[in-house]
Amino acid sequence: MNLTVVGTGYVGLVSGTCFSEMGNNVTCIDVDKSKIEKLRKGIIPIFEPGLEAMVAKNVANNCLHFSTELKDGLKNADIVFIAVGTPMGEDGSADLQYVTSVAHQIGREMDHSVIVVDKSTVPVGTAEKVRDAIQEELDKRGVKIEFHVVSNPEFLKEGAAIEDFMKPDRVVIGAENEIAMKVMRDLYHPFTHSHDRIITMDIRSAEMTKYVANAMLATKISFMNEVANICELVGADVNKVRIGIGSDSRIGYSFIYPGSGYGGSCFPKDVKALKKIAQENNYEPELIKAVEEVNDRQKLVVAHKIIRRFGEDLSGKTFAVWGLAFKPGTDDMREAPAIYIIKELVKRGATIKAYDPKAMDESQHFYLKGVKGISYLNSKYACVPDADALILLTEWKEFRSPDFGELKEKMKLPIIFDGRNQYGVFNLEEKGFEYYQIGVKN
Ligand code: UGA
Repeated sequence: MNLTVVGTGYVGLVSGTCFSEMGNNVTCIDVDKSKIEKLRKGIIPIFEPGLEAMVAKNVANNCLHFSTELKDGLKNADIVFIAVGTPMGEDGSADLQYVTSVAHQIGREMDHSVIVVDKSTVPVGTAEKVRDAIQEELDKRGVKIEFHVVSNPEFLKEGAAIEDFMKPDRVVIGAENEIAMKVMRDLYHPFTHSHDRIITMDIRSAEMTKYVANAMLATKISFMNEVANICELVGADVNKVRIGIGSDSRIGYSFIYPGSGYGGSCFPKDVKALKKIAQENNYEPELIKAVEEVNDRQKLVVAHKIIRRFGEDLSGKTFAVWGLAFKPGTDDMREAPAIYIIKELVKRGATIKAYDPKAMDESQHFYLKGVKGISYLNSKYACVPDADALILLTEWKEFRSPDFGELKEKMKLPIIFDGRNQYGVFNLEEKGFEYYQIGVKN
């Protein structure tokens, strides 16, 4: 099929590339000229395992193209995907200006029948707005062209995006037109052929499914973080409680890891947007509000442990920080706990020596830009000499099993604050460390 994907962010670039990998002819569109120039040369703006090689291969095979002009992509397109950003507006709702602007443009440019697919995460009712915007432009032009709008939310995870897209747990398609539904089924069939994982429904339910999936996962995390805080108070170990409850197949082991709160570009934004959707419909979503509040509080739990240990004034103290990204496998720092924790520590006079395998550029040039008191080192061990404590904030594989002997030798004090509960199995107290984790009494 001939596909056009508008927006080359995470979702757009990964979707477009994976569709081309499956034999479709794909054109990815973005207004950002320098981004498109780079992509044509095979330079990928994000770090995502496997993406660079897949882009290069499909560009070389002439089935993946990049352009700044929507009409280049629309010319022969069977399907146009809208995968532009839906950033958080000031009031917490999803800002749809980019989605509707693309819809208007499609209406102005299209010259044959197409299926228009919302792939961005959008509030319930957006497909209708997209349809109206396209129709408005067609009416202005005085032309009659048949088109169908479909909702097809994306569930990929950063760091595992290619894997998630190529082997999805499910593909959700919301469509009201049977022909459009059939075309979408055919498109996704190769991705789910081992057994059918395509779930079809009406458009509004598909739009809602995306928010509810993310809000449910965020709820599991906030629930466990709250449980962790209670465990600390009553002298229980949340790591054991987690296994104890996860073994119940109705609960399951996934997404019940306590830590420093959820971050990233999706959970925080989508939980807020779902809250807003409820409130706009005169419903006060108490549980969803609590999920957000617990997460905001959780992001500073490690900082509070450090303050309890070292006092309110941290001047003269040096902390080694391992991990800045919101999770391993990505250079993304959006809403990363590291931002909040580091700002809190330097505000109190601390010096930070940080290392992250991928996110140091992002930190230095964007998320912690201009924050004084941070230096970036080129390896995990380079951060630790003379550190008063080591703080683990992202569970990258290279941090999982460090040489504790070397750490103890190099650090000023053998103290570890583990914001991801990675080192509980190593009996660090026996090795002479003072060890703090989430949800275990110290
Ligand atoms: C999330 C969803 O998992 C995807 O299904 C969805 O498609 C995506 O959002 C999206 O809407 O685009 P992602 O933000 O890439 O994916 O990251 P996750 O792997 O889900 O992790 C989110 C956050 O939760 C991270 O900060 C992670 O550290 C935290 N987390 C996760 C926990 O604190 N505990 C857990 O048990 C699991």
